[in-house]
Amino acid sequence: MALQLHDIKKVCILGCGTLGLRIGLRCAIDGYATTIYDISAEQIEAATRPQQKILQSLLRHGQIQETDLSPIIARLHWTQDPAEAAAESDLVSESVTEQLELKRRVYEQFAPLWPERTLLTTNTSYLLPSQIADHTGRPELFCALHFHDVFTATVVDIMPHPSTAAWIPDLLHHFGKRIHQIPVLVEQETPGYLFNAMLMAVLGSAGALLTKGLASIEDIDRSWMGNMNTPVGPFGMMDQIGLDTALHVVGARTDSRSQRFATLLRQYVEAGKLGVKTGTGFYQYPQPSYKRKDFLH
Ligand SMILES: NC(=O)c1ccc[n+]([C@@H]2O[C@H](COP(=O)([O-])OP(=O)(O)OC[C@H]3O[C@@H](n4cnc5c(N)ncnc54)[C@H](O)[C@@H]3O)[C@@H](O)[C@H]2O)c1
Repeated sequence: MALQLHDIKKVCILGCGTLGLRIGLRCAIDGYATTIYDISAEQIEAATRPQQKILQSLLRHGQIQETDLSPIIARLHWTQDPAEAAAESDLVSESVTEQLELKRRVYEQFAPLWPERTLLTTNTSYLLPSQIADHTGRPELFCALHFHDVFTATVVDIMPHPSTAAWIPDLLHHFGKRIHQIPVLVEQETPGYLFNAMLMAVLGSAGALLTKGLASIEDIDRSWMGNMNTPVGPFGMMDQIGLDTALHVVGARTDSRSQRFATLLRQYVEAGKLGVKTGTGFYQYPQPSYKRKDFLH
C-alpha cells in the first residue's frame, strides 16, 4: 500500500560520512526521529563535530533557535547495530561508500531486517538504482534520492528505476520539500542525475587540462572562478566532494582521458590526501589558497 508523507516518522541513515551526517541532521532538524548507522565507531564519533558546526552556522543565520538545539540532538540516535538501526524505520537514506559491491552487500545484510513498509533510497552519486535494486529484497520500494550538500546546495534528485512503484517519486517529492530541499525528477535512469552529469563534464575537463600539463591546479581554478564569479573552482570542488569519491567516479570511466586523471587521483588517495575531510587534497585546509583575498589578483 502506498505510504503518505504523514506515515514517515522514523528515518534511518546508513553511513555517517560527509553526506550521511548532513542528511541525518537535516531530518532531525525537521522533526524526524533519525537513527544513524555506520560500521565504524570512529566515523560515528567524528560525525558529531561537523554537525555541531552546521548547527552553530544555522543558529548564527537565525535558521534555528537556541531552544531548538536540545530537541534536535535528542532526535538523533546513533548505532552500530543493524537490527537496532532497521527497527521501525519508515524511510531509509543510504550513504555508504560509493562502491557497487559494498552497497549491494549492505542492502543484502539489511534486507531481512526492515519492516515490510520501509521505503529504501540510495544517495549514490553515479551508480544506477537498477544496479542495486535486486539486492534490496524489495525493488519496488527502492528509488534513488540523491542529495548535494543538503545545507548549502539543496537540490535533491529523485530517480526511480524501472521497477520502482509509481507512487514513490511523488511521495519523495513531498518528503524532499518537507526537509527543505528543491526536488527534481529524473524520469529515466542516467548516471549523475542532472547536475552531476553537467558537473562531471567540467571536472573531467579540468582533470584533462592538468594531466596534459597545460596549466596548474591554481590557474585552472582561477580561470573558472574569475569567469563564473564562484568562490571555488573545479579542483577546490573535488576537495570538497572527497578525492576518494572523485576517484570512484572517474576510475569507473574507461576512456583514456578519465583513466589518466584517475591515475593522478589514485596517488592522492593512496597518500591519504582525500581533500577537506583529511585536511589535504589539491589544497591545504582549513585555509586553502583559493580562499585568500589575493587569489584572483
Ligand atoms: N561527498 C559528496 O559530496 C556526495 C554528494 C552526494 C552523494 N554522495 C554519495 O553519498 C555516498 C557516501 O558518500 P560520502 O562522501 O558521504 O562518503 P564518506 O566516505 O564520507 O562516508 C561513507 C561512510 O560509509 C561508511 N561505511 C562503509 N562501509 C559501510 C558498511 N558496510 N556499513 C555501514 N557503513 C559503511 C563509512 O564508515 C563512512 O562513514 C556515496 O554513495 C556518494 O556517492 C556524496
